[in-house]
Amino acid sequence: MKMYNFIWALLALYTTLVQANVEKTIFIAPTAATVPSGEPDLDDLGLERLSPENPIVRTRINASFPSENAPEGIESWFFLENLNPHQRYEVRVCWLATQPTTFTLTTHEVGTLIEDASLVSSLSIFSTARLASPVAWMQNPIPRANKKGTQDPAPTMDSVLFLRVRAAADYFSPDEALMRDVPPVAVDLILDPFLWNVFPRSLVPTAGWIGVVAVVAIVVARWVAKELGRVVNDAKAERALQEAKKGK
Ligand SMILES: *[C@@H]1O[C@H](CO)[C@@H](O)[C@H](O)[C@H]1NC(C)=O
Repeated sequence: MKMYNFIWALLALYTTLVQANVEKTIFIAPTAATVPSGEPDLDDLGLERLSPENPIVRTRINASFPSENAPEGIESWFFLENLNPHQRYEVRVCWLATQPTTFTLTTHEVGTLIEDASLVSSLSIFSTARLASPVAWMQNPIPRANKKGTQDPAPTMDSVLFLRVRAAADYFSPDEALMRDVPPVAVDLILDPFLWNVFPRSLVPTAGWIGVVAVVAIVVARWVAKELGRVVNDAKAERALQEAKKGK
């Protein structure tokens, strides 16, 4: 009985663990470019930043139902900086399954973004909204280390990318308010470098565990096989002995 309780507890834990969804984009960091200083200062855009030193941002993203103007929902912008040129990275967005949403992630180099009027206008709409909302600004201050801090120096010559996250609500509810106003989605955004450009670094502990389990399984299997072999041999020897006795 106790065993059953234990298994149920494990199952319950498992189901709570898997109640989160993930969407991601994989990209290669561009060559370091001079961050255009003639443009409005990138820091002044008020975007939240992700970098190898600050790989996780926990925030809320506005979402909407797909519309003709925005078939993939509301667009939000983030800034990826201090990347290693030519290294492969992925950015993941994780959100709770209790807020069904479809996310679309794309990355854009500074140079190509500036040339695309629709991207620039989307970015400036987002930036304006963000700078105008003091609450969001207070909740997500963007600490830029001062001169003595080395963490996340303001980029001048740097491998940087803009990240665009589109969020479309993906539910149907009898609650009219929920169908009218989509609540913002709580998300974690995670920047994860690939090791040797093939393997997401955050998966290394998991892979390590799989390795350990595999080794243990092999050792146990060998032991079981050996023991079984011994039992079979003993039985054979026993029978041979008995037959020899009968034969006498
Ligand atoms: C998110 O939505 C709220 C409510 O509609 C709005 O006030 C805010 O400006 C939006 N934030 C951004 C960054 O668009």
